[in-house]
Amino acid sequence: MKRRDFLSRIIGFLIFLISGKLIWDFLSFSLKKRQKLSIPIAQVGTKPSVIDGIIVWRENDTYRVYSSHCTHLGCILKYDEKAGIFKCPCHGSEFSINGVVIHGPARKSLKRLDYIVKKDKIVVNL
Ligand code: FES
Repeated sequence: MKRRDFLSRIIGFLIFLISGKLIWDFLSFSLKKRQKLSIPIAQVGTKPSVIDGIIVWRENDTYRVYSSHCTHLGCILKYDEKAGIFKCPCHGSEFSINGVVIHGPARKSLKRLDYIVKKDKIVVNL
């Protein structure tokens, strides 16, 4: 086998591998089902609380649902009822009741999560 043929086969094989990986990544991303979390409405109060990794509370006839993970490095936030804000125990970030950063090091607001009410449960898209 000539050197040129050998190199062509190696390059063809590498292109084949890279293409396969790209197609695999695209398909697995497209087919991945979004995870959902069901929370009994009876567990949801009028004050923010962390339930199964989300912050949720009832406000009039609607609900507010946020990720409970700090946008800095992902620690679980705690609600400071007295101050009415969310505080991160790891590096001190603070978020308003609307999820907006009021004190860093976090820079991004909390992720608000979509939900639907199904019978006696709130189904949250994670
Ligand atoms: S993880 Fe929350 S401030 Fe760093």
